[in-house]
Amino acid sequence: MHRLETRAALHGWRRGVSGRVGFVPTMGALHEGHLSLIRRARRENPVVIVSIFVNPTQFDDAEDFRRYPRPIERDLALLEAESVDAVFVPSVEEMYPEGFDDADAHYTFGELETILEGAHRPGHFRGVAQVVAKLLRLVQPDVLYLGEKDYQQYLILKRLVKEYLRMPVEVVLCPTVREPDGLAYSSRNQLLSLEGRRQATCLYRALCRIREGYRRGEPLGSVLAEARRIVAQTPLVQKVDYLVVADAETLRPIQSWQEAEHAYALGAIRIEGVRLIDNLRLY
Ligand code: PAF
Repeated sequence: MHRLETRAALHGWRRGVSGRVGFVPTMGALHEGHLSLIRRARRENPVVIVSIFVNPTQFDDAEDFRRYPRPIERDLALLEAESVDAVFVPSVEEMYPEGFDDADAHYTFGELETILEGAHRPGHFRGVAQVVAKLLRLVQPDVLYLGEKDYQQYLILKRLVKEYLRMPVEVVLCPTVREPDGLAYSSRNQLLSLEGRRQATCLYRALCRIREGYRRGEPLGSVLAEARRIVAQTPLVQKVDYLVVADAETLRPIQSWQEAEHAYALGAIRIEGVRLIDNLRLY
């Protein structure tokens, strides 16, 4: 596996490869969710590249950035075991030679960047779009693999590729991978205590209650109230940022099932100081 630390090294490597290139951008602390994206990229492309970069511009909370796990040697061993062709591990200076307020800092996405995650993490999606724009220009992939757990990020990045970068990149959404008790894999799970991790499953249980309510044709209002109770009554949950059903395209929350052609149940909670998100596609 090639370990590429600079733009110049990446450029040189990219010039030397031919065939479809699958790309999985990550912030490291790799888990089964990442590995499922990487395995899919491996199955579908002769060339696979992964990036590991904890991007400062997408953190609205300096403490969250500082605490973000960075087990780089372990990550590299995992990528090696998955037969990844190259890993791009740039420094902050390498990614932002002109400082953070550069030409990529200003892509706008209207309401999509201000609702749900955007409402609770101001500037987050601008930072994500900023770094992914750079990564895509550098890597020049044919396919970009993204996880469904970050569904709002997927919608933002699809728009980035189509409306701003206009690159011929296929954006593939891959299903969320869960632990046996339903907890979605996340690099942040390892910041929880054993008990916190156990109680964090309340978010998935609440989303499942919404899905059950939809399948049974129960009124959305009462289903949501019950789902919110499931999380609110979990002792270690400090805050429920949102728990909604939203239109799958616009992510605008809906009040009755008929309001959207396709919908997701989405939630974000804070537990033991750790922010977790999850979602389920309903219809
Ligand atoms: O989903 C993530 O891990 C990050 O937001 C991404 C896409 C790697 C950009 O930093």
